[in-house]
Formats: sequence, C-alpha cells, structure tokens
Amino acid sequence: MTDSLTVRDNRTGSEYDLPITNGAIKGADLGKIKTSEDEPGLAVYDPGFVNTASCRSAVTFIDGEKGILEYRGYPIEQLAEKSNFLEVAYLLIHGDLPTKEQYDTWQHEITYHTFVHENVKSFMEGFRYDAHPMGMLMASVGALSTFYPDAGQIQDPKNRHMQIIRMIAKMPTLGAWSFRHAQGKPFIYPDNDLSYTANFLSMLFKMSERRYDADPRLVKALDILFILHADHEQNCSTNAVRSVGSSQVDPYSAVSAGVGALYGPLHGGANEAVLRMLRRIGSVENIPDFIKGVKDGNERLMGFGHRVYKNHDPRATIIKKACDDVFEVTGVNPLLAIAKELEKIALEDDYFISRKLYPNVDFYSGLIYEAFQFPPEMFTVLFAIGRTPGWLAQWDELVQDKEQRIARPKQVYTGQRQLTFVPASERWA
Ligand SMILES: CC(C)(COP(=O)(O)OP(=O)(O)OC[C@H]1O[C@@H](n2cnc3c(N)ncnc32)[C@H](O)[C@@H]1OP(=O)(O)O)[C@@H](O)C(=O)NCCC(=O)NCCS
Repeated sequence: MTDSLTVRDNRTGSEYDLPITNGAIKGADLGKIKTSEDEPGLAVYDPGFVNTASCRSAVTFIDGEKGILEYRGYPIEQLAEKSNFLEVAYLLIHGDLPTKEQYDTWQHEITYHTFVHENVKSFMEGFRYDAHPMGMLMASVGALSTFYPDAGQIQDPKNRHMQIIRMIAKMPTLGAWSFRHAQGKPFIYPDNDLSYTANFLSMLFKMSERRYDADPRLVKALDILFILHADHEQNCSTNAVRSVGSSQVDPYSAVSAGVGALYGPLHGGANEAVLRMLRRIGSVENIPDFIKGVKDGNERLMGFGHRVYKNHDPRATIIKKACDDVFEVTGVNPLLAIAKELEKIALEDDYFISRKLYPNVDFYSGLIYEAFQFPPEMFTVLFAIGRTPGWLAQWDELVQDKEQRIARPKQVYTGQRQLTFVPASERWA
C-alpha cells in the first residue's frame, strides 16, 4: 500500500501524487494543482473547519464513534475517578503525570499565585452592577497582560511556565469575583490553606465566617466537572486561543479570546437550554407529548446529540454519577426525575437511536450547577476555569511547533471586481 493520493485534474488532464501522513494530505500540496502558472492553486472550501486539521497535537484524543476521550493517553473515566483537577492540569501541560515532588511544587506554585494585583480588583469593581460574569472574566484575564508585560516573551520556556501557573491560579479568583460583583457582595481573597477547588468555593460563598469549608462531596463533584471540561482538542474556543496565539501575542490575550468564544450560546450555553427545557416540560406526564414534538421536528431535545460523539459522550456518564453525590448534600433537584425519565424514553426510541443521539455533557451539568445555586450566567465561567489548562497546553504546544505559522485562512471571493469609483459629489448630484 502506498501512502499517497493520486488526483487527476480533469480541467488539464494532469495527475498529481499527494503524500498522506497520519491520515491527512497537506493543504499546500493541493495548491500545486493549477490550470496555469499565474493562477492560484486549488483550495479547500471548508466553512467551520469540518474536515480540516489545523495542527498536529499530542494533547487530547477523541474517537467520537467509540465514545473515547483521553488526555495525554489517559482515559477520562480513570482521571475523573482517581485523579484531581490540579494533577490533570499538570498532565495536560507537561505531557506526563507528576512525581510526588513535581506535584508538590506544582501545587505550591499554583496556590501561591492565586492573588491578583489590587488594581485588578478596583478595575473589576468598575463594571456595571449587573455585568455578565463571562464578560468580566474575558476582560479581566485579558487585562492581566498589562500587569505582566514580560508575558510577551513567549519563546522563553521559563517565562511561558510562569504565565501558565499564573493563569491557572488566578482564573478561579477572577471567576469568583465576577460572580460576587453581580450579587453586590464583597470580593473574598484566596485562602491558600484550601485546595484549588475548595478555595474557589470559598471565594464564591464565604461571608463572615473565619474560614469557609465546603462539603467535601461538593468539592469533589466540582473538581470532577473541572476535569471533564479540561480539554476537548480543537473545539471553537481552543481554535480561538490557537488562532490569536499564532500572532505571537502574550497568552493572556490569547486565552481571553478563548473565553470570548466560549461565551457564545453554540459553545458553552447548552446546559442552560437544558434547564429551560426541563422546566417547560414541568412533569414526567408531559414527556410523551414533548418527545412527539421533537420527532415532528418542532423542537430539539437539548443536551442530546454531539458533532463528534456518535455512540455516547463519556463525560455524560461520569456527570450522571456525580449528580447523585451532589444531590445527597443539596437535596434532589425536582427536574432530575424529568431528566432521567426523558433520557430513558429517548434511548429506547428509534428516532434517537437511528440518528445516534445520546445525552451529552450538558444534559446533567446544568442540574448540578443549579444545585450549587449558581445562576445560569455562571455556568460558562465554570467551564472556562476548567478549560484553562487545556487552552494553555494547546497554546504551549503551538508556540513550540515549528510547522505553525500565523493563522490566516484562504477565502473563495464571490464579490464584484474592477468597478470604477465615482466620487460622492457626482453620485449624489
Ligand atoms: C450538538 C448538535 C449541534 C450537533 O449537530 P450536528 O452534528 O450538526 O447534527 P445534525 O444537526 O446534523 O443532526 C442530525 C440529525 O439528528 C437530529 N438531531 C440532532 N440533534 C437533535 C436533538 N438534540 N434533538 C432532536 N433531533 C436532533 C437532526 O434534526 C437531524 O435529523 P435529520 O437527519 O432527520 O435531519 C445537535 O445535536 C444539537 O443541536 N443538540 C442539542 C444542543 C446541545 O445539546 N448542544 C450541546 C453540545 S455539547
């Protein structure tokens, strides 16, 4: 078997042999296919990059048909059950699991960079009283670039490491303060005696008590949710981080672009839509009518289906288990019964089976977040905190990848050409 593709251009009769490496041909090789020397070569028209690989990456593996998700080769199920978010962050960034010593150093570094400059605090206080926390997070993480002007030295590995530590450490502080601002509550400083996730909960919910100790079962559940969201290869926000990062800007600016991408309803907003849908259904008796509406094409079963996963979303199975742990502490969300019955009915129905529609990560995550008493606007902030190590691992890989260049896609031009400009004074005369 030869690892190449033979293409015959029927416009000219010429044949081309294009090498295939790792299941891909190079876009630039297609550019050699032309009708004449002075014409641009053949391009691929691929809106949404549906079948275009933008990079080689060794961070995350997904097999959508089989429902497999692995970070640096480790199955998500094992990481969610046996690891913790900080260790998973180390794994994503460094490519390997840490030794005891490496983990202790990593934990120490992240813990001691949780504070932000006091001016960040006053800057955040300046937002309107009802500012969306995602907008505040996006602006404040971008603003950190002005506090660390050396972050632009992205070719220096030590410098990159410093910014990676800072960003993973400070995202919970910025996220929690964005939440407190809308509530008119004072910002809570980090408590470095607490774990990463317990400290985040403290900054969110602490009031006058000397120390806020969240229920360990809630800390564990939120930690698992962070792990599940830590990376998902070339999704929209990661692509935004890579695309902006390819200009060699500092990582704060690149990550703030990722937060912006995640802000959009098509990326981070589906779990909120699931809650709205469950509320609208209202009770288990109304499910058959709702399913009929979906099958008639009048609406979608939110939290079902995925562009990549066509068997099951491995994250959904883990989240469903975490739901039970959270509800043991907070009391059961009455919407859970509707969700479980809806899932049961849908998974037995040929409409959903034949279209390979299964619950995705968002089907249950909104229910958990609501049990924590997060308003829907906070759901994507939680997603962003979890995704930060993934964005940074991908950015770090990009910066070191000799094949990468500034992201600059081609276009297929469909507009007019060579018009003659008539000045306004003549056009309007
Ligand atoms: C995630 C999603 C956008 C993927 O879309 P996609 O890969 O482009 O799949 P398509 O929209 O082409 O759907 C294929 C078929 O399944 C149907 N379908 C897809 N998702 C459906 C859903 N949630 N409910 C009902 N039908 C659905 C489509 O109508 C289509 O049916 P058809 O072949 O009869 O036209 C889509 O499944 C969806 O909208 N899900 C609900 C929103 C959601 O949960 N998003 C979070 C993703 S993590």
